Amino acid sequence: MTEAAAPGRIDVHDLAVEFPRRGEAPLLAIDGVEFSVSGGEIVSLIGPNGCGKSTILRSIAGLVRPSRGQVLLDGGAIDGPDPRIGLVFQEPRLLPWRTVARNVAYALELAGFPRPVREVRVLELLRRVGLQDSATVLPAQLSGGMRQRAALARALALEPEVLLLDEPFSALDAMTRDRFNLELLRLWGRLRTTIVVVTHSISEAIFLGDRVIVLGARPGRVVADIAVPLSRPRTIDQLDEAAVSATAREIRRHLDLVAA
Ligand SMILES: Nc1ncnc2c1ncn2[C@@H]1O[C@H](COP(=O)(O)OP(=O)(O)O)[C@@H](O)[C@H]1O
Ligand SMILES: [Mg+2]
Repeated sequence: MTEAAAPGRIDVHDLAVEFPRRGEAPLLAIDGVEFSVSGGEIVSLIGPNGCGKSTILRSIAGLVRPSRGQVLLDGGAIDGPDPRIGLVFQEPRLLPWRTVARNVAYALELAGFPRPVREVRVLELLRRVGLQDSATVLPAQLSGGMRQRAALARALALEPEVLLLDEPFSALDAMTRDRFNLELLRLWGRLRTTIVVVTHSISEAIFLGDRVIVLGARPGRVVADIAVPLSRPRTIDQLDEAAVSATAREIRRHLDLVAA
């Protein structure tokens, strides 16, 4: 008996993105990016500043049109924003005049969910990210970490198959970050969405990912695709295992090569 593939499979095929520039040749941000993510898998993307990590995520989310190549979700081409894909930006882009609950409800309003359904779903989402007591406050009253939680709840509102996270915890201190990463993995344990997460931190990339994809300097392309030898569910203590230092060394070697 063949098992049906889990939903949320992403295929990034020969992806290139150019940005037009006034009075200059277009900027080639990424060129020939190629990788796949299985449904329910967690993949970390790491690479030097400006190598096109955000551009890759925005292309998968259908927010950037490729100059060449394509992105497939469950075998079908992505050619615009898709409710099956949730994105958390580098800076949480919450609507400042809406309360936390109404920010999370926004996508549900646009999708035409009736108010009683929205209210139940929003409460559940806020509970999942630990913001149940902040439903009625405005984004400006939240800490940076809480704003990212709200953005995460909003990205989960339409029950996406794929969650794209662009350096979600980079503004947080190390301890808060560890805690958020553990919570993220716990959430994943229940939802089993595909996750692609961009990070600057080698240990975070290893802690979260089944694989770590290393990107080279601009124009970005994949220079290494490294399997993480850790079982799940994960604990912070696993980061002390010898296999993790070997993986970190391999990632660093590739990053040093592309930085040279
Ligand atoms: N909308 C845009 N218009 C023009 N240039 C852009 C745009 N978005 C990104 N770039 C450029 O493309 C390159 C890759 O950017 P980005 O994907 O943000 O890199 P990263 O996330 O890896 O730091 C950078 O040189 C950046 O300045
Ligand atoms: Mg970026």
